[in-house]
Amino acid sequence: MPNTKIAGIGKYLPAQVMTNEELTKYMDTSDAWIQERTGIKERRYAVKHQETTTTMAAHAATMAIERAGITKEDIDFIIFATLSPDYFFPGCGVLLQRELGISNTEIGALDIRNQCSGFIYGLSVADQFIKTGMYKNILLVGSEMHSMGLDFSTEGRTVTVIFGDGAGAVVLQPSDEDGVLTTHLHSDGRHAEELAMINFGSHGGHHDEVDYGFPSTDIPGGIFATKKMVEDGQIYPYMNGQVVFKKAIVKFAEVIDEALRTTGLSKTDIDMLIPHQANLRISQYVQKTLGLSDDQVYNNIQRYGNTTAASIPIALCEAWEEGKVNTGDLVCLAAFGSGFTWGSSLIRWV
Ligand code: UT7
Repeated sequence: MPNTKIAGIGKYLPAQVMTNEELTKYMDTSDAWIQERTGIKERRYAVKHQETTTTMAAHAATMAIERAGITKEDIDFIIFATLSPDYFFPGCGVLLQRELGISNTEIGALDIRNQCSGFIYGLSVADQFIKTGMYKNILLVGSEMHSMGLDFSTEGRTVTVIFGDGAGAVVLQPSDEDGVLTTHLHSDGRHAEELAMINFGSHGGHHDEVDYGFPSTDIPGGIFATKKMVEDGQIYPYMNGQVVFKKAIVKFAEVIDEALRTTGLSKTDIDMLIPHQANLRISQYVQKTLGLSDDQVYNNIQRYGNTTAASIPIALCEAWEEGKVNTGDLVCLAAFGSGFTWGSSLIRWV
């Protein structure tokens, strides 16, 4: 059975920089608060009405395809992870196929909705398909255009200051050498609403006491989005930051430990940890728990904020471009987020 290797990697960060200072024009916040609590100095925003989650993904994918030394027509499966898709449906997988101009209709396109863990979930799925011999060139992308769906009033500040836009992509191929050694996926749906955007959806307001203005329950049919929902501002993501933070630091460490135990490796074997860029404080806590030095952990949240499904491939791409990930290195990926879902992977870089 072959292993799975990352044959090419790419990223795209929109040119527009939004600093903490600039955010103070829209909401009651400060550069000092944001840096102290999250480590973020600035983030990127895509150009509204010109760029989308899919167009950003296409840039990252094109780079990954070129670096893999293949053409777009060689791609036999697309996996797209995002929480900020262009449309409610269809998903971004098929939109990316079209954006890249892939005319081959023999390929499949799968959408992953696992938020911050989306890239690791996608990697795990791809790994299984490669190992069974089903596909030879899988394009896995994480892309987010958060800026289009955030509340820029003071009410939304806790969530809004954290997130940024961007995309990362990898081409995965079979390998006779090492590559992906292991992947681990977890979920705990009991906390689904602690980090969620529940509208627009089929729940119809049943979850709580909030009146979303949905049509009467006496008649069949309904509507995902109501005018009242929009008027009341119930259309933005919600996060119970402290609950998420406390869970995250425990689960990051646990799931990394699980990967090490499965492979018989130890924390001292890790050459580079690429944590999902949720909050610099979370990464630093995990680093301390594992006893890793600064040059064994890659962080770029300071420049890009939290780009959810895109954060791991963007960080991995930058680390590789900077010569911090080399052949033979043991790379550890780990993520935690909405769902809750979390996961890890160990990769022997080839
Ligand atoms: O990738 C997805 C997973 N997400 C995460 O991992 C995020 C995990 N959570 C966190 O990173 C942190 O909880 C946050 C950065 C979101 C918030 O930090 P915190 O230290 O937990 O702050 P808090 O929510 O407890 O708020 C503390 C204070 C409050 O004021 P009072 O009640 O003490 O007067 C907030 O109203 O800070 C206030 N606050 C802000 N002030 C300035 C909240 N957001 C802001 C803001 N600017 N943007």
